[in-house]
Amino acid sequence: MPTAMITGITGQDGSYLAEFLLERGYEVIGMVRRSSTVTFERIQHLQDNVTLIQGDLHDQSSLVDVIERFRPDEVYNLAAQSFVPTSWNQPVLTGEVTALGVTRLLEAVRLVNPDTRFYQASSSEMFGKAKEVPQSELTPFHPRSPYGVAKVYGHWIAVNYRESYNLYAVSGILFNHESPRRGLEFVTRKISNGVARIKLGLANELRLGNLEAQRDWGFAGDYVEAMWMMLQQDQPQDYVVGIGKTHSVRQLCDCAFSYVGLDYQDYVVQDPLFYRPAEVDLLIADPAKAQAELGWKPKISFEELVHMMVESDLKRVSKELI
Ligand code: NAP
Ligand code: GDD
Repeated sequence: MPTAMITGITGQDGSYLAEFLLERGYEVIGMVRRSSTVTFERIQHLQDNVTLIQGDLHDQSSLVDVIERFRPDEVYNLAAQSFVPTSWNQPVLTGEVTALGVTRLLEAVRLVNPDTRFYQASSSEMFGKAKEVPQSELTPFHPRSPYGVAKVYGHWIAVNYRESYNLYAVSGILFNHESPRRGLEFVTRKISNGVARIKLGLANELRLGNLEAQRDWGFAGDYVEAMWMMLQQDQPQDYVVGIGKTHSVRQLCDCAFSYVGLDYQDYVVQDPLFYRPAEVDLLIADPAKAQAELGWKPKISFEELVHMMVESDLKRVSKELI
């Protein structure tokens, strides 16, 4: 039975990846942070089937311990301070976790078991003020937030450990992927939750920032398969993963509100509070390499994703009302 270790297992992607790996017969070890309240909502249904162990990307010895104790065949580094606006408020913490945390984990792998295969969760935010459209593995980076800058560091340190120490280390440059398990502060979930609350009479407006930003949005459940595929290749390489289509936040609002028979223009209020100091205007993937070499194909379209998220929030908010 192969063993996989996931950092960030309590996050959106970690929960889908754990499900995916369990279905394939893996023993799954999840590294979790100690906190005064339990934050295992997304993996509650998996708790009997995964082993959870405390550790933190700030703490080198906790990372060495977990690798020594379980000697995983595959390590998926999904943990990060992942919310872009927070990275302006907490730039140093973001750098510590999202950038240096990658080096700490790579060092643990290199020192304890260099045969471990390593996945780094890189991001389309690294393209930032994008130099070309669409963006591929060859597009230069121009990050626009402390988060994006930290991810560029994480990306290059994974490449560097591959080139310096011959580790099987890969970076997946993933475009935005969403689900009913997405954090409530990200725009897709903020909108699906807002639509549900308005439809059920609990709110009468939804305050958002820039409606013209465009993203290449896909379903998180599809993207974790690409992570796994990247670790099953003969040679370690980096891949761009996205759908290859882009929609604006405005189109997202239209899709979500019209699904429940409402007009977004009656409810959405633009609020400068949610504008960013520097914006990423347009992201769109060129996933040709992942499709050709990994055989990866997304199964859920943008419209299906938005409808799935609104349905899920309608159910959840309705339950809260009972
Ligand atoms: P998420 O839901 O925000 O999950 C982040 C995870 O990191 C949580 O489990 C969190 O634990 C953990 N974490 C944060 N700080 C930590 C620390 N110091 N030590 C250990 N664990 C820590 O993020 P996601 O959407 O699943 O994304 C997964 C990864 O992919 C992230 O690295 C993200 O930057 C990257 N990424 C995401 C997307 C996307 O569209 N979702 C696209 C490209 C790249 P707690 O539960 O305790 O907070
Ligand atoms: N969060 C948020 N809230 N975003 C808003 C709002 C709002 O009220 N109004 C407009 N937006 C716009 C943002 O300005 C941004 O252009 C876009 O919606 C998407 O914002 P987020 O959903 O917060 O995601 P992100 O693109 O900044 O970052 C996500 O995707 C990256 C991959 O490209 C995160 O998951 C990152 O961790 C990930 O790396």
